[in-house]
Amino acid sequence: MEKKQKLTTEAGAPVGDNQNIQTAGPHGPALLQNVWLIEKLAHFNRERIPERIVHAKGSGAFGTFTVTNDITRYTKASIFARVGKKTDVFMRFSTVAGERGAADTERDVRGFAMKFYTDEGNWDLVGNNTPVFFIRDPLKFPDFIHTQKRDPKTNLRSNTAMWDFWSLSPETLHQVMILMSDRGIPQDFRHMHGFGSHTFSFYNEYNERCWVKFHLRCMQGIANFTNEEAEKIVAKDREHSQRDLFESIEKGDFPKWKMCVQIMPEKDAETYRFNPFDLTKVWSHKDYPLIEVGVIELNRNPENYFADVEQSAFNPANVVPGIHFSPDKMLQGRLFAYGDAHRYRLGVNADSIPVNAPRCPMHNYHRDGAIRVDGNGGGAVNYEPNSFGGPVDNHVYNQPPFEIRGMGSHYQQDKDYYTQPGDLYRLVPEDEKMRIHTNVATAMEGVPMNIKVRVAARFYQADERCGKGIAEAAGLDMNEVLAEVKRQQQED
Ligand code: HEM
Repeated sequence: MEKKQKLTTEAGAPVGDNQNIQTAGPHGPALLQNVWLIEKLAHFNRERIPERIVHAKGSGAFGTFTVTNDITRYTKASIFARVGKKTDVFMRFSTVAGERGAADTERDVRGFAMKFYTDEGNWDLVGNNTPVFFIRDPLKFPDFIHTQKRDPKTNLRSNTAMWDFWSLSPETLHQVMILMSDRGIPQDFRHMHGFGSHTFSFYNEYNERCWVKFHLRCMQGIANFTNEEAEKIVAKDREHSQRDLFESIEKGDFPKWKMCVQIMPEKDAETYRFNPFDLTKVWSHKDYPLIEVGVIELNRNPENYFADVEQSAFNPANVVPGIHFSPDKMLQGRLFAYGDAHRYRLGVNADSIPVNAPRCPMHNYHRDGAIRVDGNGGGAVNYEPNSFGGPVDNHVYNQPPFEIRGMGSHYQQDKDYYTQPGDLYRLVPEDEKMRIHTNVATAMEGVPMNIKVRVAARFYQADERCGKGIAEAAGLDMNEVLAEVKRQQQED
């Protein structure tokens, strides 16, 4: 007979009976000394950790990033040091609004989070499948997310809350246009592009800075579902994207993305025709063409979902020498939000969980805290400066100085809400234009008439035909829409 491993308690003692609790007599009450039962139930009660406040439902995989083109003139980041260099990665894809058990195939933005285990520390690029975002000021994030989550009274998702917020926050229009287009429901995680979305900075070995946007071009091709197709999928399989990713990697069909960058010289930012740090806008590819950098391939499924995917923790604050932030207000807000979320969700030692831990040597003077399981620095000196050879800082790793100007205040951003969403609408094929009209009308089901009119007026300002198409699909009175357009124009 096959020799099986011994079942043990957490303390390693052998378990005598895992099927029958200890009772007083065959039908009697349980004995408190039945410690195995207590340990088993108590551990089970604590299996769930808080889910991510956003992007709770996700799938992840390990893989490799390989450099295919030399960009060392822009950045000294060691990950890009030479063509052919390989770096391990972990990626997690997600939907934004749904809870951990939500269906995958929803009309929603998809998270596109990447962790590169570089030899100078972990670089996390925590992006989405769209190049822009709904808002551009981090103060608005909790309000925006409240409109995506459940209504406090009905506990239902609220179309009214979403469209109320979007139509009162016209900077959302570009992202909403993308969400209502065919790209609003990617077929799965393998058939969509990814974007770093924000503007970041690169600096090279001479400390010369440029601004950079990251693009991950899907090498499987783009594939989307219509509302009707998605409904059929969800009715049968709520885990469609998870299944697709897991099974394709399992059978050796490894998904790949080509990493490209757009590079803007540092000085251009002062004179570009709009604020290049505005997360609701894209940079023209004519002005700043895509430059190929490398390829990400996902080729290994995690052995254990909870250990590696649920416990993974991505943080835009994780940058490495050669890659840095920008004045993008949203990015600045995110630099606080993620570490804070990790400390709440996983604890202060979240970074020593294997999927999050760097693969390069790591030394600092942080000690103790809940669930410290990596040896806690052993007997090494735990203060600095010291005379015992402890780790020291080195100013060569500071990012080059950057200029800051202006009076401290609360500044409003520009009011050009409509140019880029309008350009996008004019670019998509005719049949997709029609689907945008009907997708908006369908998504507004149950929304009060005045909000629907406000929505159609916003789209009208982006493109007259788009506004008219939506008004028609939603059965709105065009005169009311035009009156609302006038009102909005006076207000803007
Ligand atoms: C997850 C906050 C904007 C992409 C999260 C989490 C928080 C958060 C608290 C959960 C983190 C965790 O528990 O591990 C914010 C705030 C934002 C913001 C405050 C704006 C100020 C954005 C933007 C993007 C983005 C603009 C994309 C360009 C993601 C992704 C995840 C995430 C992909 C999931 C990461 C994972 O797979 O674990 N966000 N977010 N977020 N966010 Fe944001």
